[in-house]
Amino acid sequence: MLNREHFEDLDKTDPLTSFYEEFDLPEGIVYLDGNSLGPLPKKSKERARQVVEQEWGRDLIKSWNKAGWFHMGERIGDKIGGLIGADPGEVIACDNTSINLFKVLSLALDMRADRRKILMEGSNFPTDNYVAQGLTKHLGYGHEVIFAERDQLIDAITEDVAVVSLVHVHYKTGRIMDVKAVMEKARSVGALVVWDLCHSAGAVPVELNDWKADFAVGCGYKYLNGGPGAPSFVYVAKRHQGRFRQPLDGWWGHKAPFDFTRDYEPAEDIWQMMTGTQPILSMSLLEEGVDQMTRADMGLIREKSKRMGDLFIQLVDEKLEGYGFEIVSPRDAEERGSQVAMTHEYGYPVVQALIERNIIGDFRAPDILRFGFGPLYTRYVNIWDMVETLQDVMQKNLWNLPEYQAKAAVT
Ligand SMILES: Cc1ncc(COP(=O)(O)O)c(C=O)c1O
Repeated sequence: MLNREHFEDLDKTDPLTSFYEEFDLPEGIVYLDGNSLGPLPKKSKERARQVVEQEWGRDLIKSWNKAGWFHMGERIGDKIGGLIGADPGEVIACDNTSINLFKVLSLALDMRADRRKILMEGSNFPTDNYVAQGLTKHLGYGHEVIFAERDQLIDAITEDVAVVSLVHVHYKTGRIMDVKAVMEKARSVGALVVWDLCHSAGAVPVELNDWKADFAVGCGYKYLNGGPGAPSFVYVAKRHQGRFRQPLDGWWGHKAPFDFTRDYEPAEDIWQMMTGTQPILSMSLLEEGVDQMTRADMGLIREKSKRMGDLFIQLVDEKLEGYGFEIVSPRDAEERGSQVAMTHEYGYPVVQALIERNIIGDFRAPDILRFGFGPLYTRYVNIWDMVETLQDVMQKNLWNLPEYQAKAAVT
């Protein structure tokens, strides 16, 4: 049987402890929702002040050059690229994940003009499906989105598929997709592949160039700790750049925006993925989160994340038996991202009861409770405390109060 001391001991020898103090987490909060919104790095507060007061307030428009605002997307993109196995010039930070997905899916369909199918997993994060469905409708050339779930996925990658668009780490279950199998099959039939790395970047090792990936997108507000609504990133493999055009011709994607020419001439490199003016304040905060992440060792992050997930599952098995929870994340840590999900018939009120007790996870309809581990700020002892609190909530039926039943707009 596990006990709290075991978790305290793990914290004492955790090689990532120095990062704990870099976050501005409220006292007493157990934050297990960094898979949805990463917490605030202390340095980001300083940076926000600097951008607002000095760069904007004092230097005004000069900051486009003086503070490097104009090239921020490329600069941050290169840093993120280093975290996900891309070369400089293959990643740019801009827009949001949905928009970037629209761009790369459209690009991919252009590259496979003789094919009409986008293959996806139906249980993808909804925006992926919606964007693909919207794009095919907009194109109006008989394109279609076809769905296959995990077991049928590889077989469904056939010669008429133009692009396979998949979430690398599943947003609900945390299951990691079998990249090798997907890439091999896609290559063998000439299909392109788009990876959604929202739940991967900063949490699990990603090697886009080793994978021989074509395109990828991901968000900045989860494990990259870039802040609410932080810009997204988009990867286009060097070999695909300059050959096809993303569809949103905005002046920032022009090869010389400040020539102000009448007609659009796309940049030939990753810069073409830009559209219009970027949110500089948000970009600045994203850069702080990314800078912090680049100082951490991904091997240590992954080891700790796997261990925390294993311990969490072990504790749930030991302490919550008979309360109706079912672990739906893979039990094998190698197949799991940095979160553990479980189902419960009354998942929503149970999560609300936990939040009221300072344990923050989230709920995903219809019945999933998700708990994410951010190895830079989650302590082992948080896991023990979380499961103990949940046991208490279940034993005393504390979730079954009227105020926990009504769903808020964001769950
Ligand atoms: C897998 C995945 N893709 C995309 C998104 C969101 O995309 P956007 O940045 O456009 O809101 C999320 C958000 O949680 C996600 O989990």
